[in-house]
Amino acid sequence: MITDVISALDLDRKSVELILNEAESMRNQLYGKRCLHIADEKIVITVFLEPSTRTRLSFQFAATYLGAKAIDFGTTEISSIQKGETFEDTIRMVDGYEPDAIVLRQSVPGNAKRAAEISAAPVINAGDGANEHPTQALTDMYTIKREIGRVNGLTIGLMGDLKHGRTVSSLSYMLDKFDENTVIYIAPDELQVSNEVVSKLKNLKYKKSDRVDGVMEDLDVLYVTRIQKERFIDNAEYERLKGSYIINRDFLEKFKRRPIIMHPLPRIDELASDVDNMKEAKYFEQAKNGVYVRMALLKEIMNL
Ligand code: CP
Repeated sequence: MITDVISALDLDRKSVELILNEAESMRNQLYGKRCLHIADEKIVITVFLEPSTRTRLSFQFAATYLGAKAIDFGTTEISSIQKGETFEDTIRMVDGYEPDAIVLRQSVPGNAKRAAEISAAPVINAGDGANEHPTQALTDMYTIKREIGRVNGLTIGLMGDLKHGRTVSSLSYMLDKFDENTVIYIAPDELQVSNEVVSKLKNLKYKKSDRVDGVMEDLDVLYVTRIQKERFIDNAEYERLKGSYIINRDFLEKFKRRPIIMHPLPRIDELASDVDNMKEAKYFEQAKNGVYVRMALLKEIMNL
């Protein structure tokens, strides 16, 4: 049984496989319908204290497609956080209204866990600062499975801001649960994956590179990430590093063997729009897949 989802490390391989299979079932069951009516008595609240388009909306659509009511906390500007209400009291209040699940995004690593300790309702971590984003990683795994047909025996390039990217840590932990996967972390030294993340890997083979062109033809997936301006303390460093890698059609067409291109989005200029029509571009599919994965997750968490 899946309860709180705080870290990708908390889910075992069987649970991940269950969610991936269930997501495909949700997609098939929803085909041609607007609602499955399997959660008509349930209430899901999305509490997003940091900006989001995909995660917030895909959870709201997922809840609605299941038949649940989706309530949104709204922006911090219209909440009593503006008056100084603490994070803990905010979660206590939200939980007191008895939702069936709380989907939480906020900027402090570890506060999703704190919320789960306070709350009786299950808490789903929808991103806690630069720490983790486990439901994005489930979405990524589902996308890889649909596009390539397996989540084993793959070589995946994770490229961009690996230091601040929460999708990178969670996806690494997900890939680690499966067999014979290799990750190539592609980033300038300043933005390389942290030792804290790689120290938690048990099974995943990995190497680091500061160049993408030398490894392109080894990759099954190139997973591009945004340089996360909001996480930099020094804006000058952001300005220096922001153009480190740019993936565009001209670059990709240099290679005979091309990986599929994924990106958790939003993108800025690291992934050009002239890639969008290439057959390898899978990032908008990836974003849409998030709805089915989150339907599956909500279904499991709410014991439906
Ligand atoms: N991938 C992702 O988390 O996007 P949002 O920030 O728009 O939710």
